[in-house]
Amino acid sequence: MADKEHFARGLSIGIIMDGNGRWAKKRGLPRTAGHKRGAEVFQDITRYCNELGVESVFFYAFSTENWKRPFEEVSAIMKLFGEYLLKAFDYQKENNRVVFMGDRTALEPRYQSLMNEIEEKTKNNTGMTLNIAVNYGGRPEIVRAARLLAEKVQRGEMSPDQIDEAALSAAMYTHGQKDPDFILRPSGEKRLSNFMLWQAAYSEMVEMDVLWPDFTRHDLDLAIEEFNRRSRRFGGL
Ligand code: IPE
Ligand code: IPE
Ligand code: MG
Repeated sequence: MADKEHFARGLSIGIIMDGNGRWAKKRGLPRTAGHKRGAEVFQDITRYCNELGVESVFFYAFSTENWKRPFEEVSAIMKLFGEYLLKAFDYQKENNRVVFMGDRTALEPRYQSLMNEIEEKTKNNTGMTLNIAVNYGGRPEIVRAARLLAEKVQRGEMSPDQIDEAALSAAMYTHGQKDPDFILRPSGEKRLSNFMLWQAAYSEMVEMDVLWPDFTRHDLDLAIEEFNRRSRRFGGL
């Protein structure tokens, strides 16, 4: 890598961690083995993003639609998430601010307490913001934001004409953060699957054929290089 200091510094990156099941199937393993390996890759790529000086990263871990999967698979994913939560305090030493996106009220109460505690303990950290989307959907996030604003209007704290893009953005889970510069989707799929619909307005899409459990630091380098070659115009010339 030519200049690691600069090529990723300050970037905001969304990552749809996809392909765990196919990875496991290819090896004749249960799908849960793919999720286990995927969780390890998530932790390594987080550390690498820190090293690269990335400003914020948004990981899609579990969607509002993923509850449709068999109970055993959902339970296994949630168990991995719980194990991760117990370890997440490492991010204190990494100086990461951790933010959980999504409706946590559907998760186990002890998970919710840990999530709240982690956010609270890391909120003044000055390093990368590590966002983890669990029970997250882009549409539910927009609906929630609309509701929060409606409640403010009802309480007389704002008037309807004060509802603008900035007000909506401030009511999202990602408030105060830069929209993703690019959204990376491994596994070859070419869709957002309800990820960051509001924030993705001008994000570049970077799709890669590698399955998430096989994803390496080098693959992230390739994705960033691909993004750096794009010409963003934001509607201008
Ligand atoms: C992504 O991998 C993990 C979650 C959605 C929780 P998948 O489980 O979707 O893997 P594939 O797409 O079936 O290979
Ligand atoms: C998106 O992947 C959700 C996560 C990676 C958490 P899916 O595997 O659920 O998406 P679809 O079903 O292929 O669109
Ligand atoms: Mg998938």
